[in-house]
Order: sequence, then structure tokens, then C-alpha cells
Amino acid sequence: MNTHDMSHIVTEVADGVQRIEIRRPEKKNALTQAMYAGMAKALAEAERDRAVRVILIHGQPQIFTSGNDIADFLQHPEAATEDAPVFQFLRNLMYAKKPVLAAVTGAAIGIGTTLLLHCDYVIAGQGAEFAMPFVNLALCPEAGSSLLLPLLVGQKRASELLLFGDKFSAEEALSMGLINSVVADVDVGTHAMAKARTLAQKPRAALLATKSLLKAKLVPQIEKAMIEEAHEFGDRLASAESKEALTAFLEKRRPDYSRFQ
Ligand code: COA
Repeated sequence: MNTHDMSHIVTEVADGVQRIEIRRPEKKNALTQAMYAGMAKALAEAERDRAVRVILIHGQPQIFTSGNDIADFLQHPEAATEDAPVFQFLRNLMYAKKPVLAAVTGAAIGIGTTLLLHCDYVIAGQGAEFAMPFVNLALCPEAGSSLLLPLLVGQKRASELLLFGDKFSAEEALSMGLINSVVADVDVGTHAMAKARTLAQKPRAALLATKSLLKAKLVPQIEKAMIEEAHEFGDRLASAESKEALTAFLEKRRPDYSRFQ
């Protein structure tokens, strides 16, 4: 077993499975640029390491991730540019040749939900909650979600999820086909590891070929969507509305957009 702690991103390889754990519970696993860089590095290492056959991303029992760190957004609006750590992470995830599983317990907000669109198998606890509240933060979809979400759940559902940004449950996520299975919260870790080990024992070349065949046709379109989204996201992040929304979150108050209408 080989464990690394890269400031809030903890990785471990065992039984052919590379675990990538998001561990910043005091901020609900909000993702900073350093954490995206850590996850990008972990994914790159997993690709190179022959001992790794499957990748599993997870948080802690109470929280998957609350999404991008909002203070980081305010301090580093340039974080939306295409060479920023978040895009290195998303590209490594999108281009991962090995199967990527995710285990969701607690909230998966913003990129916490959109990163799941790139995973091959997602298991969630009954108490898990999902949301893509980009519009509510005066932002727009990212991570290829403007393309992948309608493909997965249909145009009407995708519009509802992205325009309203409301939370939805694990059962709803399952019924929409956004995730594969729902189990009791306490069982998520065990079930996820069992699924990961099952895949890790499959014939390597057949597993990789199957994933590649499933994904290869879509990847150029996802890449294009991600670039378009990144330009729009950057503009939104630089706007007065998003500064108000992000500041309001940190100040624990409702945003006031009346000045901007
Ligand atoms: N960025 C930065 N800090 C965050 C954060 C984020 N995305 N999410 C939570 N935090 C911080 C809170 O500010 C708080 O910090 P404090 O203790 O210094 O005041 C701490 O984490 C605990 O969060 P809190 O909201 O009090 O916990 P909760 O259990 O009531 O709710 C969530 C948890 C995840 C439901 C809630 O924090 C949330 O909705 N966050 C999502 C933020 C968001 O919109 N993300 C999408 C970005 S695109």
C-alpha cells in the first residue's frame, strides 16, 4: 500500500485501486487550486502506474465536496482560464484511460456534481445531495456539463437542473441516470471498493478498450464544450453580479442583485 497526502488530497494504491480522497472537511471539501492540482497529479500518476487499474474518487462520510472554493474564486478570477489547475484536473479526468469510479456521501455541489458526468460508475449514499447552482452564483455551466447533462438526462431535465440550480436527492439522481446506484450512507465506502476491486480484476486490455470505445467519440465534443464554457465562465466570474453572489455566500446572507438590473 502506498499513501500520499498532498494538502487535502490523499491518495492510496491498494488492490489495483487508486483512491483519491478529498479531505478538507472544515470547509466542506471546497476545492482550491492547489487541490485541483493535487487531483490532476494523482490522475496522471494513476495513468502511469501499472499497479493501478481503477481510480476511485471520494470525500468523507459527511461530505463529497461543496465545489469550487468560493473565496478562491473571488481571489483568483483567472482560475477559469484554460491552463488553470481546474482544467488540468478536468482534462486528466476526461482523458483517463482507466475506469474512474466515484463514491458520493453528503453534498456534491457544483463541480462536485459535474465531475461525476465524466466518471464511469457512481455510487451514492441515500443522504447524498447534488446541485449545480451556477446561475445562483451568477456563473454558468462548466466541466462540459452543458453538453453532457442534456445527453444524460434529457434537455428539459438538464435545463431545470442548470437554470434553477436546486438540490436533488440520490434517488432523483439515480432515476435520471446521473448515478448508477444508491446504498445506505454507511455502506458507500465498502460497496464502492468492492465495485472498484471487481473492475481491477477484469482483463486489463479488454477493460481499457471498452472504456475507450465508449468515450472516444464524445471526447472532442466535450473538449470543445469545455473551452466554450470556460470563456463564458471567465466573463461571468469577472462580473459584478458574481462578486455579489460569492461575497454574499461567504457573508452568509442573500445576494442583492437589485443594483445590476
Ligand atoms: N467554498 C468556500 N467555503 C465553503 C464552501 C465553498 N464552496 N462550502 C462551504 N464552505 C465553508 C463555509 O463558508 C463554512 O465556513 P466557516 O465555518 O468559516 O463559516 C464551512 O465551509 C461550513 O459550511 P456551511 O455552509 O456552514 O455548512 P453546511 O453543512 O450548513 O452546508 C453545504 C454545507 C455544502 C450544503 C454548503 O456549504 C453549500 O451549499 N456550499 C456550496 C457552495 C456552492 O455554491 N458551491 C458551488 C461553487 S460553483
